[in-house]
Amino acid sequence: MKKYLILLIVVVSFFNCKSVKAGHNDETQIVSFGKKPILLRQPYLQMVRPTTTTITWKTDAKAESCQVVYYEKNKTEKTSIKGDLVSHEGNKFNEVLMKNLKPNTTYMYSIYSNGHLLATGKDYYFITAPANKKMAFSFYALGDIGAKEEWSFAKEPATRIIELKNRPDFGLGLGDIVYPKGESKNYDNHLFKPFQEVFKNIPFYPVVGNHDWLSDPEKNFEKEWSLPGNEHYYSFTYANTLFIGLDSYDGGFYKLDEQIAWIQQTLKRYKDKYDWIIVYLHHNGKTCTYKPNYEHVQALYETFVDNSVDLVLNGHAHTYERLKPYDELGNVDGSLTNQNNYGDLKNRFISVTIGAGGKINKKWQADPLNKENCNDGSIVAHAEHVPSFGLINIDGLMLSFQGINSYTGETFDSFSIKKNKE
Ligand SMILES: [Fe+2]
Repeated sequence: MKKYLILLIVVVSFFNCKSVKAGHNDETQIVSFGKKPILLRQPYLQMVRPTTTTITWKTDAKAESCQVVYYEKNKTEKTSIKGDLVSHEGNKFNEVLMKNLKPNTTYMYSIYSNGHLLATGKDYYFITAPANKKMAFSFYALGDIGAKEEWSFAKEPATRIIELKNRPDFGLGLGDIVYPKGESKNYDNHLFKPFQEVFKNIPFYPVVGNHDWLSDPEKNFEKEWSLPGNEHYYSFTYANTLFIGLDSYDGGFYKLDEQIAWIQQTLKRYKDKYDWIIVYLHHNGKTCTYKPNYEHVQALYETFVDNSVDLVLNGHAHTYERLKPYDELGNVDGSLTNQNNYGDLKNRFISVTIGAGGKINKKWQADPLNKENCNDGSIVAHAEHVPSFGLINIDGLMLSFQGINSYTGETFDSFSIKKNKE
């Protein structure tokens, strides 16, 4: 009788969609039913905050329920929580939100659909964001990533990121996330497969690029990701840094007036509360690459200077280019000699194009001094035409940036900014 009562409690808990805490062997208590759904996309982390995390995976249409079992690394108490299923493109997005987590803590997880275990193991973990602003952290950034295998080398940066000695805490996607048109039907082959080992334990924050805009983002980009706010432009914080992601559409900002007002409000609200402000978007402002200067982006640079933005990252040109600091008038200060170790830049910021994430322009060679689009090559601090991603480390008032070759893992460009204490 006692045995049947325990079984009844377990079944009721499972279908109640509530978090249940159980003993060490609680995974054996999960009741499976129906056919085992096929795992079409490995789990990926999103919105990993100090006390919450979202894990999403994709199955075929057989999935009717989804569940994550997680526990603090090296501890035994496990928690089981159910999530929601969303149908899209004939498949199911299994999405589970975990709450009441401890900041800066490593959790191991396993995923279940219809009660069947679909993935578990040492690489399935997440580390919650710190609540402490003093915590050092790092992140990677790259744009122009996923295309057909024969056209994209996206697997290379993904492999180098996994091999890094210090695992980055998250990644930024600088637009043109999936080619040719940002279609949901291409996300698995073009992006999630090459990046699956990264995404399962490092969250990713992408913004929309002009190619992503060739399909309705509402029915494609927004279905693939869980991002803050309206998912086109949004902010999040990590330790002592504010991140602002923008939607630079295709030659003008998405919802121009609203987005600009939001940028100004966000900067005003947070600029004195965080040591660093990093803006990321798809289009460049000034450049000596083969792309034109985009005036709609340049028009924001005075706002950035006035509001203590430190770094602006973009993609679009399939190459790498770091400019010298923008001055207080919003112009690249070509008078500064090429430096790699900046002191306090005060009212200046640095802009970097990292647009050879998965594609490189084969017809073009970087030559900033002889460029039709570039009136003055002296604005460029470092240009290198190489498959690459950026790795940024922030430790208190020191920011260190590395441009890393996606094939060799070598650092080909680096600079740092060191702020003075007030
Ligand atoms: Fe682009």
